[in-house]
Amino acid sequence: MEHKNFDMKIFTPSQIVKELDKYIIGQTEAKRAVAIALRNRWRRQQVKDVLREEIMPNNIILIGPTGVGKTEIARRLAKLSQAPFVKVEASKFTEIGYVGRDVESMVRDLIEVGVNLVKSEKAVEVQAKAEEMADERVLDLLIPPVKKTQTTAVVKDGEEQPANGEETEAYQNQKTREWMRLKLKKGEMDEKMIEFDSQAQSSIGMQVLGPFGMDDMGINIQEIMGNIMPKKRKKRKTTVKEARQILAQEEMQKLIDMEAVQKEAIERVENSGMIFIDEIDKVAGGGKGQGPDVSREGVQRDLLPIVEGSNVNTKYGVVKTDHILFIASGAFHVSKPSDLIPELQGRFPIRVELNSLSEEDFVQILTTPQNALLKQYNALLETEGVKLEFSKDGIKEIARIATEVNEQVENIGARRLHTILTTLLDEILFDVPDKIPSDKVKIDAKFVKGKLEKIVKDRDLSKYIL
Ligand SMILES: Nc1ncnc2c1ncn2[C@@H]1O[C@H](COP(=O)(O)OP(=O)(O)OP(=O)(O)O)[C@@H](O)[C@H]1O
Ligand SMILES: [Mg+2]
Repeated sequence: MEHKNFDMKIFTPSQIVKELDKYIIGQTEAKRAVAIALRNRWRRQQVKDVLREEIMPNNIILIGPTGVGKTEIARRLAKLSQAPFVKVEASKFTEIGYVGRDVESMVRDLIEVGVNLVKSEKAVEVQAKAEEMADERVLDLLIPPVKKTQTTAVVKDGEEQPANGEETEAYQNQKTREWMRLKLKKGEMDEKMIEFDSQAQSSIGMQVLGPFGMDDMGINIQEIMGNIMPKKRKKRKTTVKEARQILAQEEMQKLIDMEAVQKEAIERVENSGMIFIDEIDKVAGGGKGQGPDVSREGVQRDLLPIVEGSNVNTKYGVVKTDHILFIASGAFHVSKPSDLIPELQGRFPIRVELNSLSEEDFVQILTTPQNALLKQYNALLETEGVKLEFSKDGIKEIARIATEVNEQVENIGARRLHTILTTLLDEILFDVPDKIPSDKVKIDAKFVKGKLEKIVKDRDLSKYIL
């Protein structure tokens, strides 16, 4: 296989940490570990063939209480690396409905993500071309092209005939087309109604066939059926604006070479795919899970070959899992990583503990990340012309209450901030815009105390509300 970086942005470990810092407060150790793991995959791809195959991914177990950023770190990491990423809950494989459902489905989900990822990249590449072709189709409908039928008749006559009628027509037609094309591009035709053929692939019946598990067997029903069933042409009438969009989509589908997309997706998944296995602690330790037959250890045994590296059949072809990066995570309250079967432990050489979050962390989480909660609420209310002004002591009070409730009721980490803020802002969110039409709303410590103190003091109340 050739070296390939898939044109993705290659971050150094410290850059990766810096990027993660934009969203996640603290947890430096975990950020470092995932940064190294990610960079190591790129490094591996630069290594010469023989040795490259020997270099195994740095699978990681993130250990830490609930709501401290485990999933968030993995999610952001995947976004950052533009790698195919899926998240599964290990415990779901022990559930009743999943008995017999093979663990390999996670790889199938991953390739699905990979195909979509590559496809949307290709779509961007061909977009301009597709739009142009769509416009030509629209132009064909608006100004039907002149058919050249009797060209021979024209030349026959030796006499000087200044541009016979037909050619003038063709020339005129060309001019009109150019003029119309300009109008189209300017959006001046947007509102006009137009009728056109759209090639909607018939999809009736597919869903009916779906649940038989053909997909799980790695057979592409859609493709088989799609080839048997004729492409359905449907007459549609829409505005020119919408027609341009629909036709551009159609042209795009034609321009994208799906075979190449699938091939690249497989390569991408094999070399840079990431599977995040949440709640791995729930399958640690022997004994029975909730399901009747599937023991936790059974799930671990099922996981093992995939993590170790095996070939999984998918509808796009065989996917080798050897170099997929696995990040597992769990609170490990009851069980410990050492309760996992040794083979599986060996496949997750890196263990990182995440810290519980402090009051000071909460202040940071509320305010600094790019998607910080306070920024989110502010953006929501700004749409109504209302500005929330959180004072320093107000923010501190929210953080203090979050910490207190976490200690007294149950520690759910940063998730507590969500529940507290919804309660705190409930009235404002309801009263805008009727009672608070457009204004600044100051939220200081007094306001926060006023709204929340009673609930916090009452343990039962806070159990239900916060
Ligand atoms: N360190 C942090 N910095 C910023 N936001 C955080 C942090 N920790 C948690 N959050 C926020 O709290 C929420 C829950 O975090 P996350 O999903 O990462 O929890 P988790 O550690 O995976 O918990 P669980 O064990 O329950 O799955 C998310 O909205 C996340 O943005
Ligand atoms: Mg999680």
